[in-house]
Amino acid sequence: MPEIEAVLSDIAAEMAARADRGDVVTYIPQLGKVDPRKFGLTIAMVDGRVFCAGDADEAFSIQSISKVFTLTLALGKIGDSLWQRVGREPSGNPFNSIVQLEQERGIPRNPFINPGAIVVSDVLLAGHQPREAIGEILRFVQFLADDETVFIDHEVAASERATGFRNFALANYMRSFGNLEHAAELTLGVYFHHCAIAMTCRQLALAGRFLACDGRNPATGHSVVSAERARRINALMLTCGHYDGSGDFAFRVGISGKSGVGGGILGVVPGVASMAVWSPGLNAAGNSRLGSIALEKLAKAMNWSIF
Ligand code: DON
Repeated sequence: MPEIEAVLSDIAAEMAARADRGDVVTYIPQLGKVDPRKFGLTIAMVDGRVFCAGDADEAFSIQSISKVFTLTLALGKIGDSLWQRVGREPSGNPFNSIVQLEQERGIPRNPFINPGAIVVSDVLLAGHQPREAIGEILRFVQFLADDETVFIDHEVAASERATGFRNFALANYMRSFGNLEHAAELTLGVYFHHCAIAMTCRQLALAGRFLACDGRNPATGHSVVSAERARRINALMLTCGHYDGSGDFAFRVGISGKSGVGGGILGVVPGVASMAVWSPGLNAAGNSRLGSIALEKLAKAMNWSIF
C-alpha cells in the first residue's frame, strides 16, 4: 500500500497545476464569486488519522452535500415512512429537473435531487418554525463534525432565495400532488438554509465518519444511526449522489459520494475512510470536475474502490 501522505500531496500538486478546472456555478450569484483555483482535500481514516492537503481548512458552501445530513435526520424522525413520499432510484436527470414529477405524481425519484431534498425539508419542518428546523439541522452537522464553528452563510441562502425560481416551481408542483405539507416559502426557507451551510474539507470529512464506521462516530463513540441505516445511506449516495453523473462516478471512482454545486464532494469507503474534496469548477452534470478526478486518482492509488 503506498504512503497516503505521498499520494495526497501528489494529487494536490497535480490538481493545483491543472488548467481544465470546469465552470464555477453562476445560477446562485453568491457562489459565482468563488475563486476557481481553490482546491482542498481531507481524508479521515476510521482509525482516527486525518490527512489534509491544499485549502482543506477554508470553508465553502456544501450545497447538496447537506442532503446527506438532512436525510439522516428525517429518517431518524419518521423512519422508513419517508419512502412513501420519496423514492430510492437514480433519476438519470439533472438535479433540478421537473419532468419525472408529472409522470410520477409528485413523488421525487430520490432524496438527493432537489425535489427529493425539498420533501425531506418539509418532513423536518413538521411541528417547528423554519428557524427551529434550520437550527436543528445546523446543530446536527456541528455534532457530527464535533465542531461548533460550522455555520450557515446567510448571504448564500439569501442569494438562492432571490433566484430559486425552479425550486419554488418544484415545491409548488409537489404541493399540488399533496406531497408537501407546508407552504413552499416555509419549506424552501429550511432547504435554502441547509444548502448554505459552510464547512471546510476537514469538517466535512469528519462529519462523514459515521457513514464509514457502521453508523458510529469513532472519535466521540456516539452512535448516530444503526449500521443498517448507514449502509443504506451509502447505497443511495453511490446510486444517486451525483445526479445524472452517478453512474459515471461509480464507474470511475467506485465509492459512495455526494456532490454539491459549491464544488464539494463527500466520499465514503465503508470500514476505511470518509473524505472531502473541494474544487469549485463543475463538469456538465454539476459535479466538481477536479474533485471527481482527484477522488478517482485517490481511489485508484489506494485501491479503495468498493468493487
Ligand atoms: O437547490 C439548488 O439548486 C442548490 N441549493 C443545490 C444544488 C446542488 O448542490 C446540486 N448539486 N450538484
